Amino acid sequence: MISSFKTKEETLLAGGAPVAQIVRAAGSPVYIYDAEVMRRQYTRLAKALPRGFRLFYSIKANPNLSVVKVFKKLGAGAEAASSHEVMTAIKAGVPRGAIAYAGPGKSDSEIELAVDHRIGAINVESVTEFDRIVAAAGKTGKLANVAIRLNLDYTHDDGAGGHVMAGGPRKFGVDPDMAEDLAKRAMKEKWVRFVGFHLFPGTGIMNPQILAGAHNALAVYALRLAEKLQTRIGYLNFGGGLGIPYKDGEPELDIHAATAGIKAIAKELRRSKWFQDVMFVMEPGRYLVGPSGVYVSTIIDVKTSRGKTYVITDGGIHHALIPIVMNKSFPTALVNRMGQKADTQVRVGGPLCATPDQFSREIMIPAPRMGDLLGIFNSGAYGYSASMLGFLSHTAPAEALVDDGRVYIIRERQAPVMGVKKRLKI
Ligand SMILES: Cc1ncc(COP(=O)(O)O)c(C=O)c1O
Repeated sequence: MISSFKTKEETLLAGGAPVAQIVRAAGSPVYIYDAEVMRRQYTRLAKALPRGFRLFYSIKANPNLSVVKVFKKLGAGAEAASSHEVMTAIKAGVPRGAIAYAGPGKSDSEIELAVDHRIGAINVESVTEFDRIVAAAGKTGKLANVAIRLNLDYTHDDGAGGHVMAGGPRKFGVDPDMAEDLAKRAMKEKWVRFVGFHLFPGTGIMNPQILAGAHNALAVYALRLAEKLQTRIGYLNFGGGLGIPYKDGEPELDIHAATAGIKAIAKELRRSKWFQDVMFVMEPGRYLVGPSGVYVSTIIDVKTSRGKTYVITDGGIHHALIPIVMNKSFPTALVNRMGQKADTQVRVGGPLCATPDQFSREIMIPAPRMGDLLGIFNSGAYGYSASMLGFLSHTAPAEALVDDGRVYIIRERQAPVMGVKKRLKI
């Protein structure tokens, strides 16, 4: 069973606190995160990276302010994908110079906010977006720190065990043949400071060689261009994308294999005079926060249909969309009956009138009872915020954080918004 949590007798513990008690106090369903697991993941990765590397926590993986603060306390910067995420990073106390903003479709007002706050890097996604950054910088009278997000062909292997997000035609980043001209423009613009390059390889990648290929492609490109344009690179962002296992029995990503190449790269680049002041960055989300979370729902019905046992829970795809869509053999357990013999084959479905609302095809758990608590592990990333919380108007779950033996509610359960009717005077 893939789980970062311990058990005591038959109860799952999150950071030492009994999960069943947290559910009782916070309500069901609930996301529960263990800050200690976040710290463990961060330290594990930081230790595997060479000197001078900064980790920017990718807020989109879990944007709760209390979670962002856990990483900030460890010294992490932040990767934001909207102006609200930029503000979350600032509110968490992340220094502005350690905030990067990436993502296609940044609006003018979002760009202005990023420029106004002088964040460390706006990772530009297109030539036209660059023009809008120049305009925003001129308007605010502040220098915009601009990096170019590259769309490099770094792999032909889509079997990366995740989603490759660079190479070929893409809505992300700037193709290499356009990036050179763009870099030249960025170096000349009055209100722009060209800081470097960014490559985001993809997400959920479990094959270390695929990640190493991306890291190498970025380094080769950045070195060639720095020499050609005779420019110093102050920021080189290798993206994130480090996967975590989502299927029972699936091995963890070999973090040392995934970062082995980067050590040699960092050494080589530091020999170049153009990389003397460089800040190397990695901006993972899933790897840092995914293992820290368990999504717990309550069994509210057990039924049989044509010989199959169905377990119906009070939480489902509306709270945990991406994990459920990604696969149907998520690590799952009855968290109030840990250690009991898993001798009953069941299918688990949520409360929605929608066929995809089914956690697992066939899993083995102890004979289920009404009121049992079903936990889905590795749910700390892309859970709450990447779901369709309004679907079928159920109450959105609470989020709880266990930190240093204390249990905190970090988001209350939220009733659905019924809608408004407001006349627009047009
Ligand atoms: C630009 C960028 N950075 C970082 C991330 C975080 O990725 P992951 O959670 O896979 O590490 C993403 C995710 O899509 C992204 O688009």
